[in-house]
Amino acid sequence: MTNSDARKVAIIGCGFVGSACAFALMESGLFSEIVLLDANTDRAEGEALDISHGLPFSKPMQIYAGTYDDISDASIIIITAGTGQKEGETRLDLVHRNVDIYKSIIPQIAGRNFKGILLIVSNPVDILTYTALKLSGLPSNRVFGSGTVLDTARLKYLLGEQLGVDSRSVHAFILGEHGDSEIAAFSSANVSGIPLKQFCADNCGDICHANKMKEIAEDVKNSAYEIIKRKNATYYGIAMSVRRICEAVVLDQKSILPVSCIQTGQHGISNVALSMPAVVGENGVEKNVKVSLNAEEETAVKKSAEMLKDIIRELNL
Ligand code: LAC
Repeated sequence: MTNSDARKVAIIGCGFVGSACAFALMESGLFSEIVLLDANTDRAEGEALDISHGLPFSKPMQIYAGTYDDISDASIIIITAGTGQKEGETRLDLVHRNVDIYKSIIPQIAGRNFKGILLIVSNPVDILTYTALKLSGLPSNRVFGSGTVLDTARLKYLLGEQLGVDSRSVHAFILGEHGDSEIAAFSSANVSGIPLKQFCADNCGDICHANKMKEIAEDVKNSAYEIIKRKNATYYGIAMSVRRICEAVVLDQKSILPVSCIQTGQHGISNVALSMPAVVGENGVEKNVKVSLNAEEETAVKKSAEMLKDIIRELNL
């Protein structure tokens, strides 16, 4: 990451998601500068001021509204700009509106010799990650999306509640699209190394494991719909997911996270961005990790990829 300031992060888009990310990152202490950009400058300035007023209770840093010139040397640019889902909409319903917005944002970044990581958060995140990669011309390790990091957290949370264990002791992935075709990879799920099915058999009494897991996977998939129905948007969960990804990059943690990134042939999937476990460190996506899937999961992941590819083809990027 030459020519970039490791302690500067930029957030493009200061709606609920962008501002929650700014707040979570301010609290994280990972950066010394947070630059906010929004098509509505007042909004970016207002959020920067509001969050800055918490600094006396946190740690000193700079938070300000800036321009593209201020962010070309950031170590990470996070894009949350775009319309969010409304009740009754899927993430994919947003595609044309948000691809158009990306067509105005990405060239501004690419034209300034940006050397850092581009983290895509707006939805549909897999399509927009692919769009950002194509429009920016940046190497694929440096352009990736938040993907199913949040869905995976939701899965761990629900499994932790069900099993009565710390969700951090639960290891399980949601893979594929961040959306309706996502897959809960239960066949590799485990609780601190103990296969999930066995852990359940030993600890969950007489509940039907298969039915309960199906129900949990459905609840994960429908989480955003349920939240949007009640409060019109989701933002805290995604903000914590963004914070976790930034931590992996800034501290070069080599964490395995299901970020949305270009696929290069694992499970026969390529030329599409979707979530599969990857090693995330200072160079972004440093390695794709091949996860073992059973036949049903593998078919579902391929189907998810095909569905995303059909949309990409129509976009003519
Ligand atoms: C969600 C949005 C971020 O899943 O897609 O909450």
